[in-house]
Amino acid sequence: MNTIIKSSSSNIALVKYWGKHGTQLPMNPSISMTLKNAITTTSIRWKELEKSNEQKVSLLFEGKNNHDFEKRLALFIDHITEYIPVLKNLKLDVESSNSFPHSSGIASSASAMSAFALSLIELEKQETGKISGFKDELQKASFIARLGSGSAARSIYNGYSVWGKTDAYKGSSDEYALAINSEVHEVFKNYHDAILIVSSQAKKVGSSLGHSLMNNHPFAAERFKQAENNIVQLKDILKNGEQHDYTKVVESEALSLHAMMMTSNPSFILMEPNTLNIISKVQVFREETGIPLCFTLDAGANVHILYPEDNKESIVKWIKSELVIYCSDGKWIDDEIKI
Ligand code: PMV
Repeated sequence: MNTIIKSSSSNIALVKYWGKHGTQLPMNPSISMTLKNAITTTSIRWKELEKSNEQKVSLLFEGKNNHDFEKRLALFIDHITEYIPVLKNLKLDVESSNSFPHSSGIASSASAMSAFALSLIELEKQETGKISGFKDELQKASFIARLGSGSAARSIYNGYSVWGKTDAYKGSSDEYALAINSEVHEVFKNYHDAILIVSSQAKKVGSSLGHSLMNNHPFAAERFKQAENNIVQLKDILKNGEQHDYTKVVESEALSLHAMMMTSNPSFILMEPNTLNIISKVQVFREETGIPLCFTLDAGANVHILYPEDNKESIVKWIKSELVIYCSDGKWIDDEIKI
């Protein structure tokens, strides 16, 4: 049996993807920063199928059988065989594990699908000697990752990437992400992300249901316009190194994402009282110190605090003395950009 092992990490969106159509195509472009420490490692062992009715995929997740994930993986592989035809006659034994606890409230689909896509593309290369249909391996990996989980398309690249077609970035596409580091100022290349775990519970709203809430949403058209506009603004901000303007766009994006959820039908309030306690502390701390830190949120209660490395010492001290009381079991994750 041949074996491949690949790792990939999570990412945090600065301009959020919320709403999709067709086959995992985004309703608006998004920009994210890839993280370093929240990693999924995937190994694939493969061989030729012996019988046509043989089970094609087996999965061990965190060392254990997981039939639910295994079924989803088998469906996913059926779906992408069109793009990686060599998979048709192979039997895959997949193992996947995360560097962070499954119950930490950290979304693992981006790192998991991106690590899996990178492994499949390497498999295609080893089996056929080439990668068909795309500019390069990473672009194809991003395309395949997107079909598994939209935000995973961005995790293929280190640093900053954009996913979704926008006039702001030449070469951007709805089908795969594009690295944009050459258009990012040095001050943004050492950013940290302190992930404050307000809740370790599994997500209240699954990804597919969440995105579908934007279909027929009364504010959908305005939201998609706002996101496009924020991409244009953030592009300039990232290029010119304007850290205080960055805080405004990033925080507005996080609150808009949650505003969409609160005003959808059915509606969801995913923030918890401690989410708001942390947000107001962040705003006061920024006001008092002048440090350009800011918060952002995913589709959950946890708060990401983004800040430049130069301020790490004072920010970590402040988190430990004033914010861990709002975290579930005092838990927070010290992460940073992977570049
Ligand atoms: O990749 P998905 O389908 O799990 O969607 C991710 C959506 C957000 O995390 C809320 C925003 C984003 O752009 O990552």
